[in-house]
Amino acid sequence: MTIHLCEPIGRPNPHHPTFQREAPDSQPRTLPEAGQLERETHNPETFNPKTSNAETPNPQPTPLNPKSDPVKILLLGQTGQIGHELQETLQSLGTVVAPGRDAADLTDPASLRQAVADTDPDGIVNAAAYTAVDRAEEEPERARQINAEAPGVLAEEAARRDAWLVHYSTDYVFDGVGDRPHREDDPANPLGVYGRTKWEGEEAIRESGAMHLILRTSWVYSDRRSNFLLTMLRLADDQIGCPTSARWIAEATATLLQRFAGREARDLSGTYHLVSGGQTSWYGFARAIFAQFGYDDVPVEPVATDAYPTKAERPAYSVLDTTRVRDAFDLDIPTWTGQLDDVRRQMRAVESPTTDR
Ligand SMILES: NC(=O)c1ccc[n+]([C@@H]2O[C@H](COP(=O)([O-])OP(=O)(O)OC[C@H]3O[C@@H](n4cnc5c(N)ncnc54)[C@H](OP(=O)(O)O)[C@@H]3O)[C@@H](O)[C@H]2O)c1
Repeated sequence: MTIHLCEPIGRPNPHHPTFQREAPDSQPRTLPEAGQLERETHNPETFNPKTSNAETPNPQPTPLNPKSDPVKILLLGQTGQIGHELQETLQSLGTVVAPGRDAADLTDPASLRQAVADTDPDGIVNAAAYTAVDRAEEEPERARQINAEAPGVLAEEAARRDAWLVHYSTDYVFDGVGDRPHREDDPANPLGVYGRTKWEGEEAIRESGAMHLILRTSWVYSDRRSNFLLTMLRLADDQIGCPTSARWIAEATATLLQRFAGREARDLSGTYHLVSGGQTSWYGFARAIFAQFGYDDVPVEPVATDAYPTKAERPAYSVLDTTRVRDAFDLDIPTWTGQLDDVRRQMRAVESPTTDR
């Protein structure tokens, strides 16, 4: 098992003793490539949470009020961290159609419209995005096509068909200045191309008239990306946020949809923050992961963000206030430490008996 965090600040050290020790499973452990490190998959982690538990929303099949029976959902981005988990959690709501990039390319509006037409869905869940935060500084036009224009096209198609749209956005729409959690209606002030294009995508959806849930999340981790352990050895302790498990995001999305996909869609349409409770730094998160996995002796070194300059500037304080989603949907939000604990237990539950750990 490996652990994926996103957006690591530290520099991998292939000679570190934990590199060997932490690589007993079938995943080849090589140094992370630049593209992997850049993903807004800020700090990669490899978890394998495949079971639900009492602390996380556990979607139950619920009768919706769909155009079709069972409800039909078009899912985009199914190979990503959140999308992969959604493939499973959305099954509780109905039929999930998940075309790959070859059939629904976010740089190609015609292919998106075609995918929507072919599916004729009750709702669209868009977990696809351009998430390479640093690379976006060099490819602003491509980032804008994927993060800004494509969501607008999807929203337009949803509005035309009276379907709903679930879309994920980011804490990076804020500048991270201040020391209180950002609320949904705080002014956006993205620091880089990625955050700016995500904000433009949000605006396009809000202006479309489509019933929508824009779910802003942060510091997503999952078992979908590998080789990030090494990056955890030197991590910033001056960026503060809410590490949030992709599995929990997917479960919470299914829970929200039990109400949103029914009669309450118009009333509940809007922008919500969907992150775990509490806050920590990347350094604190790495320490907690090592402790959780029994490697308390790994010497994680706290560093300042400016020790590792990156192309895109990151918000220093990106904690999101979740009052709105808790109140509107009566949603329980586990703390980030509780989520980490859950994920570890879930991993244990699915680990092969032959795994040497
Ligand atoms: N990761 C984070 O820490 C984080 C934080 C806050 C918000 N978010 C938001 O959460 C959502 C999901 O993020 P994630 O971390 O799950 O993403 P991810 O793991 O980077 O996956 C991105 C997904 O988008 C797909 N994609 C990219 N370009 C595409 C294109 N041109 N056409 C079709 N599909 C395309 C990818 O497909 P391929 O596999 O083919 O590349 C992949 O399925 C995004 O909206 C992101 O902005 C993420």
